[in-house]
Amino acid sequence: MLKEIESLKERIKNYSLKTPADLEVFKREITGKNGIINEFFERFKQIPSEEKKIIGGALNQLKQLANEMFYLAQEQIENSRNKLDFDFTLPSKEIMAGSQHPISQVMEEVISIFERIGFVVKDGPEMEDDWHNFSALNFPDDHPARDMQDTFFVNKNEKIVLRTHTSSIQIRTLENELPPLRFIAPGRVYRCDSDATHSPVFHQIECMVIDKNVSFADLKDVLYYFVKAFFGENLQVRFRPSYFPFTEPSAEMDIGWNVDGKFKWMEILGCGMVDPNVLKNCNIDPEKYSGYAFGVGVERLAMLRYKIRDIRLFYENDVRFLKQF
Ligand code: PHE
Repeated sequence: MLKEIESLKERIKNYSLKTPADLEVFKREITGKNGIINEFFERFKQIPSEEKKIIGGALNQLKQLANEMFYLAQEQIENSRNKLDFDFTLPSKEIMAGSQHPISQVMEEVISIFERIGFVVKDGPEMEDDWHNFSALNFPDDHPARDMQDTFFVNKNEKIVLRTHTSSIQIRTLENELPPLRFIAPGRVYRCDSDATHSPVFHQIECMVIDKNVSFADLKDVLYYFVKAFFGENLQVRFRPSYFPFTEPSAEMDIGWNVDGKFKWMEILGCGMVDPNVLKNCNIDPEKYSGYAFGVGVERLAMLRYKIRDIRLFYENDVRFLKQF
């Protein structure tokens, strides 16, 4: 029987195991339930016990060899099949590229319009103390203008608020730098206000110029330059007298636009000549220096530019809306 095992071993080694069909044949003829190896094990039961040790060892070796051949071949077939299945010429999965939010686009554009005429960009914190958001801007404690801004308080006792306007950056800059100054300050601001044209979080760009002999004519000049650069030539603009504690005189600027076939005015910014008290609060001599400031609502600009009627669309993050920009 040993001889037969030897020759079976040679036969097994000569099997070609390249395809799944080869594997099936091998299993049927050699390693399977009705294969020849099992047949040998059946015969093994009949042999005299003194031969069992040697023949048993040889048989087990044979079985191991056959199984190893089988699994190795199976693995190789699997691997090569994976490679073949991958078609390198297929187009790749679509990658959804995001785009810049319309508010960011408008902010960047406004910044670049002002940078062209020598303005630099300043920044300030969104959580402000009472001094920078109100007091230094000439809001007395009991001033009605203080209630005018319905404010989110972070800490009522210490009077820490989410800044209600970017005008706080006027103070932060005036406290730290010497005139002449010419800057804009974009940022997020917060108010308890919510409807189609008001959002509790929105964006403003503050603008300030402090120098010698600055006049209201300079302010109007810069504003006309700005709206022309941003909206183009044929645009209706009007100034209305207004009130802010930190400017005197003050005005609001509206822009005319057509909604649903009707002509309407939309307020886009507040402006005015810097109140001497603001300069004094920041240790700047109002006899020597004067200036103007304005704060423009970024959402309002974007609504006019893209004819969007509801401010809330900017914050819903609906891709159908966002991918149009
Ligand atoms: N801070 C004012 C507002 O939020 C706008 C403004 C800025 C007015 C600068 C005058 C000067 O309504």
